Order: sequence, then C-alpha cells, then structure tokens
Amino acid sequence: MNYLENVNKKLEKLKNKKDILVLGIESSCDETSISIVKNGREILSNIVSSQIDIHKRFGGVVPEVASRNHVKAINNCLTLCLNEANLTLKDIDLIAVTFGAGLIGALMVGVNFAKALAYANNIPLIKVDHIKGHICANFLCFEDLKPPFLCLLTSGAHTELIKVEDYNKFTLIGASLDDACGECFDKVARVLGLPYPGGPKIEKLARNGQKNISFLKENRELKHTFNFSYSGLKTAVINYIHKLSQNNEEINKENICASFQAEAFDELIDKTIRASKMLGDDYKNIVIAGGVSANSYLRDNLTNKASKENLKVYFPKISLCTDNAAMIASSGYYNFLYNENLADLTLTPKARIDV
Ligand code: KG4
Ligand code: ZN
Repeated sequence: MNYLENVNKKLEKLKNKKDILVLGIESSCDETSISIVKNGREILSNIVSSQIDIHKRFGGVVPEVASRNHVKAINNCLTLCLNEANLTLKDIDLIAVTFGAGLIGALMVGVNFAKALAYANNIPLIKVDHIKGHICANFLCFEDLKPPFLCLLTSGAHTELIKVEDYNKFTLIGASLDDACGECFDKVARVLGLPYPGGPKIEKLARNGQKNISFLKENRELKHTFNFSYSGLKTAVINYIHKLSQNNEEINKENICASFQAEAFDELIDKTIRASKMLGDDYKNIVIAGGVSANSYLRDNLTNKASKENLKVYFPKISLCTDNAAMIASSGYYNFLYNENLADLTLTPKARIDV
C-alpha cells in the first residue's frame, strides 16, 4: 500500500478516536519548534529553539542563516519533544506543519522534515497557515474560548483585524497598508541602538519614560477605516532621532520609547474596540495574538478600554505569543475536524498567504 492509501485508512479510524495527538512543526522565521498537543487544547510538550542570539549581531533575521540553523536544530527538537511527552512517533495521529507565510528557505526546512516524517511513519499531514496558528495560541490558554470573536493579530509581519466566525472561517476586517507593527518596533529599536528583536527592549525602556513627544499628526485618510499605517510613524521617529544626533542633542531613549509605543498602540486599540462594537453582541470577545501581543502596554490598555465598553479581552501567555509549534498543532487539529488543509507529499511552502 502506498502512503496515500495508508493515511486515508488512518484518517477514517481517527474519526472514532477519542483523543487526537497532533505533532506540530514550526520553522517560518527564527524559531525552530516542535510540539505535541492533545485535542487542540492541551500541550503535552512544546520545544522552542530560538535563534535570537545568532541573529542579534546582524540586527535582524538573516534568511539564509535562519534556514541553516533550522536544519541543525530540528531533529533535536523532535527528540526532546517526544521525550518530554513520553511518547513515540507511533503515538502521533497527525502532523501539522507551517507551510506559510514566512521566509521561504526557513519554511522549506520544516515542510520537508514534516513530509519525511509523515511518509516514513504513514502519518497524515496537515498544512497550517502561521497566522491562523497565532490565533489558536489562545485555545491553549483558555479552555472555554470558542469562536465567534474578533482577533487583533500583531506580529513582525502582520497587523490585522480578523473576524473569526468559526474555527475555519476568518474574514479580514482591516490591516496595515504598509509595515507591520512589530516590524516598526524592530526598525525604531535598531536606530536607537537596541538589539533585535526590538519590541521587548522598547517596552522595557518605555516603562521609565514619559509620553511627551508627538511624532505624527492624525492620519485622516485612515481614520474612519479599520486599516493602519506604520511606515509614516517609523519614518517620523527615525527622523526625530537622526535630527537630535546631528545637532548633538541628548537622545532620551526612555521618552522616545514611551511616546512611540503609545502612538503605535493607541489607534490600534481604539480601532479594535470600534470593530468589536460594529460587529455586534456576538463579537464582544476580543482575542489578541502574535508576537507583539506580549506587550503589556497593549494588553493593559486594550483590556481597560474594552472593559469600559463591556467587552472582554483574551491574550495568550507570553511564551505562546511568539512563534511556537503548539499553536500550529492546535490549528492542525481544527483543520482536521473540519476536514480541511490535508496535504500530501507534494506540499511546498508559500512566502505569503492572504487571510
Ligand atoms: O509572531 P512573532 O514571534 O514572529 C512573526 O511571526 O513575525 O513576532 C515577532 C515580533 C517582533 O517584531 C518583535 O519585536 C515583536 O513581535 N515583539 C514585541 C514584544 N515582544 C515581541 N513587540 C512589542 N512589545 C513586545 N513586548
Ligand atoms: Zn509569528
């Protein structure tokens, strides 16, 4: 029997199986991660090998370096993951792998590893969209959380408001028309001489700073939409810093960080609340996801403003905000339940996927 016949038989059997164990694989950027999740909600193990220290000296992720380090790390991640869960590949029901969006060479490592594992062990393969994975990180933290809800997704590559009608039904409400919010944090941090990734460093400095600088005038064109723009803010902050240094004036990093952080998030927060109210009572739950959702200014201010409007905000624990394979395994489980995104050995990665 060939691979496809074997997996089709397995998939039939899984329909009556009580507990489904999904092995998730993530390699879209600078984290190599392998995880095992039960029924989309319970993490049995989640190994994350971060390359942050390797890329720090370049001031950002170098794609070729990332791919090579995924190759080095991925097999060890699998061994550690199986050991931690006290399982073998025979126990695994499905393999879920990030096939996009991300760095193509980096994705290739995870996708090829997943295909080889699936083929050698006759395990069905599911392709997962990284962004949908980020949303699922919340299912691993809140056992009662279910769609519908509104999701604010903010990562190094995306800033999006997504209406999540069901586990498999996503509608884009608004998005950044240029840079992503996380990308803007990373670029501003770089100009301030802070190491990659810039988001957490800016947050830390902002704690001791004052919001006393205004970088941009309100963007009137976007005001009444649910879209965002970050390239103007990025350029304004960078120009501000360059001007100070050209004039040999003191650069107060704390105040710049506090002012930038507030400007980057206040509009995001207001538009998220407005979108939730526009969508009506079914969308009173707001979920935030993606690496930037680790930020405490965003978490605290969105939660406070939302509670005044009777809206509830969910966010994943910090370790599940940034890239990890547990969220990919969770997303893979829901794809399986809805019989979607089953992949075969012809699966190839995609650098971009639209919601
Ligand atoms: O989701 P993620 O791990 O990778 C992508 O899929 O892009 O997000 C990484 C991004 C980086 O831009 C990083 O600077 C940002 O998330 N980030 C933060 C914080 N922690 C991570 N941004 C602001 N505040 C933070 N605390
Ligand atoms: Zn991500």
